[in-house]
Amino acid sequence: MSVQPLCGELNVPSDKSISHRSVLFPSIAEGVSLVHASVLGRDNLATIRIVRQLGVTVRGELNADVMKLAEEEGLSGFTLSKDEYCHIEVHGKGWQGLTAPVDELDCGNSGTSARLLTGFLAGTNFSATLTGDDSLRTRPFRRVTEPIARMGGSFNAEMLPLTVTGSALTGIHYDSPKASAQVKSAVLLAGLRADGPVSLTEPRPTRDHTERMLSAMGCAVETKAGPDGSSTVSLPENANERVLQAIEIEVPGDFSAAAFFLVAASIVPGSAVRISHVGYNETRIGLLHVLKRMGASIEVQDKRVVGGEDVVDFVITAASLRGIEVTGEDVVLAIDEIPILAIAACFAEGETRIRGAEELRVKESDRLAMTARVLKSFGQEVEETEDGLIIQGNPDSFSSFEATQAGDKGDNSAEAWRSSGDHRIAMCGAVLEYALSGRLHLSDTAAVETSFPTFAQSFQALIS
Ligand code: S3P
Repeated sequence: MSVQPLCGELNVPSDKSISHRSVLFPSIAEGVSLVHASVLGRDNLATIRIVRQLGVTVRGELNADVMKLAEEEGLSGFTLSKDEYCHIEVHGKGWQGLTAPVDELDCGNSGTSARLLTGFLAGTNFSATLTGDDSLRTRPFRRVTEPIARMGGSFNAEMLPLTVTGSALTGIHYDSPKASAQVKSAVLLAGLRADGPVSLTEPRPTRDHTERMLSAMGCAVETKAGPDGSSTVSLPENANERVLQAIEIEVPGDFSAAAFFLVAASIVPGSAVRISHVGYNETRIGLLHVLKRMGASIEVQDKRVVGGEDVVDFVITAASLRGIEVTGEDVVLAIDEIPILAIAACFAEGETRIRGAEELRVKESDRLAMTARVLKSFGQEVEETEDGLIIQGNPDSFSSFEATQAGDKGDNSAEAWRSSGDHRIAMCGAVLEYALSGRLHLSDTAAVETSFPTFAQSFQALIS
């Protein structure tokens, strides 16, 4: 089978990080916030369900794709949208309007929901228990409970299920050992309930959606760059006395979802793809810079500002790539995109070395191990190191690929990654398999629905 080029235009789901925040933050605002989004995955629906469990009315219109998922998730009370967007109202009643949930708060696969909620719930006047699926219950939470406990937060565990007992909180300065937007956001959210100044220094600036959104809601977060590359964020004085204002948010397309097609169109010869309306936040687009260093042909068009975030269209044409060195500095700005970057590296001339990526081991799966398995199962040359991957690229991978053994080279690699339940790994596998064999095969559609329920349709539309 030959590999058909990918041609045409696509839209990607709404930014998952911004979508979580655009439901959670308005829940404590005064008044009704309006969120306009395109496609939302199951992770974002988990946040909606939880906010409702805390007594907040969330209703409105969902497009057909999201309605289907919402029904499967047992989320009722929405009507079908008359256009392709979701229009969601969040009826905030301030912190005092939140009520104790009757049941556990199930975050499903969503680390962002669980970590942000750990901070959010710490200063309420009730107890709530966060839980999640098998993967989330193995992921570390000490990174958020530790700083918030220093503020006076009360937790019964360092993993899910985790009961957060609302407490009186005091502001701190926290020197975060990790560059993590989830940790930063959790501390800032707890900080909204704390007495006294609240600030946090992270070793490198991470995604700043929390700072932008809180600022747009009337709680201006200050950010200062340190001489050593670190970044310090501070809440305004008396943040705990401020009332957040309701806002209207148009969520841009998710760069992390676009990433799969930035790579797929770069490596499949003859491809020409436009991805419209994608978030172009500097703290998110590390993959773009890395791909450009590798020689990718990606044009950035029509830069505009939507809802306080830069938004662009990408035009990608297939190009010859070369292997490069990827460092920890690149990784922070491409934390979710390293697995798909590894797929690009398979088609590059020479070696690609990725270092400083140890954080990937505690994502939805051990993404260094799983990415190596995806590559191995398709006969690619990869070495897994403690903090990264070394990939020997071959621009002729397609012609040297043995289609008969696609995705199963005799060890248990294929089985391991196909059943990892990790959305990004499943999509990486699909991109690699397509680029090598011309076959579009998505092995774990349920996992992919976490962030990109329309992935297979979007992919198929570019082939036909
Ligand atoms: C996210 C932060 C990142 C990222 C995750 C979403 C967020 O996690 O990997 O997918 O929305 O804040 P870390 O903060 O753990 O790096």
